[in-house]
Amino acid sequence: MAGADKKKLGALVVALVALLIAAGPSAGLPILSSGPSCTNFVGWAPLVNSLVCGFGGLFFTPPTPARRPPPPPPPPTATGSRQLSVGYYRNSNCSYDVEAAVRKAVEDAIKTQGRRIGASLIRLFFHDAFVRGCDASVLLNTTATGNSDTEMTGPPNANSLRGFEVIDAAKEATTAACGGRSDVVSCADILAFAARDASFFLSYGEINYTVPAGRFDGRESFAAETNQLPGPDSDLQELVEMFAAKELDVFDLVALSGAHGVGRVRCLFTNGNSAMDPTYANDLRTECSGNPDKLVNQTDRCPGGDPDMMDNQYFKNIAKFVLFKSDATLISNATTRKQVNDNAANPDKWYKDFEAAMVKMGNIGVMTSPVAGLAEIRDVCWRVNGIY
Ligand code: HEM
Repeated sequence: MAGADKKKLGALVVALVALLIAAGPSAGLPILSSGPSCTNFVGWAPLVNSLVCGFGGLFFTPPTPARRPPPPPPPPTATGSRQLSVGYYRNSNCSYDVEAAVRKAVEDAIKTQGRRIGASLIRLFFHDAFVRGCDASVLLNTTATGNSDTEMTGPPNANSLRGFEVIDAAKEATTAACGGRSDVVSCADILAFAARDASFFLSYGEINYTVPAGRFDGRESFAAETNQLPGPDSDLQELVEMFAAKELDVFDLVALSGAHGVGRVRCLFTNGNSAMDPTYANDLRTECSGNPDKLVNQTDRCPGGDPDMMDNQYFKNIAKFVLFKSDATLISNATTRKQVNDNAANPDKWYKDFEAAMVKMGNIGVMTSPVAGLAEIRDVCWRVNGIY
């Protein structure tokens, strides 16, 4: 083929690909990637769907199913006979306390990056726990299957999750603490420790609990499975169902939601709370100035609010100042409303409830023994062992 013809063909292919991406499934065209479908992310804004549906997804509002389809069956787990235990690494022959090594890595990150990184680490732990259990699958970009569409690329996570480098630094610190052995401390345990330590620093020591450990790391990770994460437009029933699927109850849901007292969110998620104070909603619109990716602080414009401090402010805000429908919906039911009010009135109660719920979340789907091809202690947190 002559050079000019080749160029024309190339231009034609590029134009066709662009057309397919732009039209997406809303035009009845097949999605180019074989990723998750547009419809199976409950509670996530259409813009998030655009990540998997091409730009056509911008105009695509997922239909609300009469009932949410049941979540996919859990992946096989290798729970073994051992349970998680507090002080698990005490007898691991490491010359330095590995939990202290993780805490130092978190503290260093907060010192160098600022306090928001603490919020991001807490969220990273939550997003790991809800997909395949606490197996550090959220950290993988190289898996046993060899797929590139891992959890971190799923709509709730892409351009959103942060803190991966802190976990990598913590892993290096634990490896050094264990005389260069990278097969001692799992990435899944590091995530659980780091979330606890971040809560400790952000709450100025009010949140401080022991973390049972002994998790093994998984070897698989798939973007499509991130549809098990609730979205900001979820209503109470959807939240309760999605938490129940992870053996967390409605009490845990309310307690854990208090983490939304810290951190930042993108403007694209802030239109869903119809009960928002009108002046506050206007200010928010002005601040966002039509930019969906702009970050706004959770809780800071309310009296006493500080997006860098973990306290019970979130619960005081719920009636008028929270950013998501999934937050506001926590007062739509008498039982959850009572718990919200109790937490608003009594910070110490919430600290204790949050600690207990974080420990409970840390039990989801854990694997507690090595199984060939399924559960291991990763040498490096972002890739499975033996695959380069
Ligand atoms: C109840 C259902 C939940 C929903 C629908 C939800 C949704 C979200 C969304 C949409 C964001 C903003 C993401 C972005 O802008 O890119 C966010 C941020 C955040 N979420 Fe949640 N979340 C939920 C529960 C939780 C739980 C259980 C935790 C932890 C225990 C948590 C901790 C956080 C934190 C700390 C941030 C701020 C992160 C940062 O600044 O980097 N969330 N959440």
